[in-house]
Amino acid sequence: MNIIFLGAPGAGKGTQAEKVSEKYNIPAISTGAIIRSAIKNGSPMGLAAKQYTDAGALVPDEVVIGIIKERLAFEDCQNGFILDGFPRTVPQAQALDAMGVCIDLVISLEVSDETIIERMSGRRVCDKCGASYHVLYNPSADGKTCDKDGTTLTLRRDDQPEVVKDRLLTYHTQTEPIKDYYAGTGKLKLIEGVGGVEEISALVYGIIDGQGE
Ligand code: AP5
Repeated sequence: MNIIFLGAPGAGKGTQAEKVSEKYNIPAISTGAIIRSAIKNGSPMGLAAKQYTDAGALVPDEVVIGIIKERLAFEDCQNGFILDGFPRTVPQAQALDAMGVCIDLVISLEVSDETIIERMSGRRVCDKCGASYHVLYNPSADGKTCDKDGTTLTLRRDDQPEVVKDRLLTYHTQTEPIKDYYAGTGKLKLIEGVGGVEEISALVYGIIDGQGE
């Protein structure tokens, strides 16, 4: 099954995408993670992308569409995949269609801006493997280091409050219109993204299992 997770920054797309990936054994593809890795490695794409992510703006469509085109050609996508953070503009959604990619389900996690701002200040990430935690809602075992590789957890550069506000504005103006794009297809499902992580996962699994019947 090919699934898209939509939602504001911090809505829980990455958290839920990882859980779905483990349960259904399909890869979770995060354009944000791919871009952060390119920035860390200092690749030409990363250097070009950094100015956008630091400002809470979107990386240009042609760059991100190229990333996804390349990634979806990998063998592990043959039995399905999860897109976390792509598409983020209507042209990106149109590009997926133009590639002949069939999307089965678009799950939008609905969370208010106030909750997002509160969540982002508590997010901590592992720079090595990209795992994401929250100091209150989803802490690592010792609250300081990554459960997977022991790396000290840090605050993401773009989780500074002033950048979060810009990312929310970007989401409302450029990404939310995608909901209209998919609304007519019958594939769009909205989920209230507030509540326990496991509780939300149960709703997500219910939708996925219902779709497969
Ligand atoms: P990206 O990394 O995709 O960032 P984002 O969409 O802003 O989403 P986040 O990763 O911040 O949040 P999330 O929804 O995954 O939430 P998470 O599960 O971590 O993109 C970063 C940047 O890259 C963009 O700003 C842009 O510049 C660029 N980019 C990426 N894709 C692009 C594209 N397609 N086009 C152009 N540019 C692109 O959860 C957040 C926190 O909340 C965590 O601490 C988590 O533990 C906690 N949490 C999760 N669920 C719950 C819950 N139910 N209750 C309480 N806390 C929870």
